[in-house]
Amino acid sequence: MKPVRAVLIGAGQRGSEAYAPYALKYPDQLQFVAVAEPDEQRRSRFALTHAIPREYCFESWEELMEHPQLGEAAIIATQDWLHTRPAIAALKKGYHVLLEKPMATRPEECRQLVEESEKNERQLHICHVLRYTRHARKMREIVQSGILGEIIDVDHRENVSFWHMAHSYVRGNWRNSEQSSPMILAKCCHDLDILPWILGQWPIRLSSSGELTHFRADKAPVKTPERCVEGCPIEKECPYSAIHVYVEMLPFWHSYSQTCTNPVNKAIIAEYMRRPVLIRFLARFFPSLKQVTEYKGWPLTVLTQDPTPEKVFQAIQSGPYGRCVYHCDNDVVDHQVVSMQFEQGTTVTLTMHGHSHIEHRSTRIEGTRGRLMGVLGNGGGWITVEEHRSRKKKFIDTSPPVGEGHGGGDIQLMAEFVNAVREGGYPENIQRAAREALFSHLLAFAAEEARLQKKVIEISHEEFFA
Ligand SMILES: NC(=O)c1ccc[n+]([C@@H]2O[C@H](COP(=O)([O-])OP(=O)(O)OC[C@H]3O[C@@H](n4cnc5c(N)ncnc54)[C@H](O)[C@@H]3O)[C@@H](O)[C@H]2O)c1
Repeated sequence: MKPVRAVLIGAGQRGSEAYAPYALKYPDQLQFVAVAEPDEQRRSRFALTHAIPREYCFESWEELMEHPQLGEAAIIATQDWLHTRPAIAALKKGYHVLLEKPMATRPEECRQLVEESEKNERQLHICHVLRYTRHARKMREIVQSGILGEIIDVDHRENVSFWHMAHSYVRGNWRNSEQSSPMILAKCCHDLDILPWILGQWPIRLSSSGELTHFRADKAPVKTPERCVEGCPIEKECPYSAIHVYVEMLPFWHSYSQTCTNPVNKAIIAEYMRRPVLIRFLARFFPSLKQVTEYKGWPLTVLTQDPTPEKVFQAIQSGPYGRCVYHCDNDVVDHQVVSMQFEQGTTVTLTMHGHSHIEHRSTRIEGTRGRLMGVLGNGGGWITVEEHRSRKKKFIDTSPPVGEGHGGGDIQLMAEFVNAVREGGYPENIQRAAREALFSHLLAFAAEEARLQKKVIEISHEEFFA
C-alpha cells in the first residue's frame, strides 16, 4: 500500500514536533508532500526535513488551498483561532483532516466543522490525544468491565504544574481568553472528551466556578521588575523565575521524575537534579544521557527554534517567556471546577488548576464494588484497582515508551489517523468520534458560561447521537 500523502498547515510546535516525526519513523505509511507556514525558518526547516520541493512550500494555508489537491490528508496545527477556515477549506477540497484541539474557539464554528465534514464525507479527526493513550483506554476498559460495579462518583483532576501554568497560561499563547480560548476549553476539552467516553454515559447538567486568583499585579510579593533578569529581588526564591524554569529546568525534571515508573530513568533524573555536573560528565561516555543533559524539547522549543543555552537565555532576556508572572497581559483563570451530573446518576467533578507541584492528571473512580485511581504525568502513568470485598489491589503501569509525548497519545493518534485515511471512505465510527469531539467542546463552552453567569446548565446530547 502506498504511503498517505499529507499536507501540513502550521509547522509550529505541534505540527512539526508532535505529528510530523511519524512520517520520518514510518515513511512507508506517511509522507509530507507540502507545507504551509508563514515563518520562513520553520517552513524551510520542515521542507528540508521532509524533502518537500520548493514549489510545494507555501506561505499560508490560503495559497496551499488555491492549489489543486496535493494528497489525501491535511494536518492542521495552527493556533486555536486559526482552525476553522483552513479546516473547512481542506474538507471542501477533498482532504481528510486531522485538526488540532480545540476544534475552534466558538461553538458555532465547531458545529460548522462537523457539518462540513459530513456534507463532504471527509474524515475529521480531532487531536484529542488522551483518547489514544494506553492510560485512558485502560481506565475505560476497567470501568466497562463492570469490576467497579455501578459508578457513583468520579473526581478527575487536571493538575497543571505551576511552571506549565506560568509558561502557557500566564506568559504564553493561551494567557488571554479573547486572543485564544478560555482555559477550560484550551486545557480541558481533552478531559471533557474522555470522561463520558470512559463512563459510557452522558452528562445532563453542570455548574462551574473558578477565577484568576494568583497571577495578577496585586499578588506580586514585592515590587518586581517587568522581567526576571532585570535584578528581580525575589528571583532566587520565586518558583516562576524564568531562569529556574527554562535555564535550570529543575521543575520540569522534577515533574518528570515524580511520574516516571521506570526505576533506571527515575534514578538518572534524580541524580541529574542532585549532581548535574557528574551526569554531564558521564554523558560523554553514555550518549543516551544526552537526552537529559542536552534536552532541547518542549517547552524550550517554544522560546526559540534552536534551544541552545545561549539562545534560551536571550529569549528570556527579550521575549515573552522572560516576563514577570505578575506583569503579564493574562486573564485566563488559574483554577476552575466543573461539577456534573451524568444520566445514570454518577456525579463527576473536573478540577483544573495551575498550581500543582507536579504536572499530572489524576482520576479517582468510586464504584459500588471497587475503586480505581489513575495518575498520568509527563514521566509516565499508572492505575490501581481495589476491590471492596476482597481488598485485592492491582497495579497497572500505563507509561508509554520513553520520548512518546502525551502519554503515548501523539503517536497512537497518528497511527490511527494514517490507518483511517489509508482505508478511506467515511466510516460511521469516525463520524461519531467527530460528533463526540464537538460535544466535548460544547461542554467546555457551557462550563465557561456557567462559571461566568453563575448558573446551572442543562445539557442535552440527543441531537448529536440520535
Ligand atoms: N493536542 C494537544 O494536546 C495539544 C497540545 C498543545 C497544543 N495544542 C494545539 O495545537 C495548536 C498549535 O499549537 P502550537 O503550540 O504548535 O502553536 P505554534 O504557534 O507553535 O504553531 C502554529 C503555527 O501556525 C503557523 N501559522 C500562522 N498562520 C498561518 C497560516 N496562515 N497558514 C499556515 N500556518 C500558519 C504559525 O506561524 C506557527 O508556526 C493550537 O491550537 C494548540 O492549542 C494541542
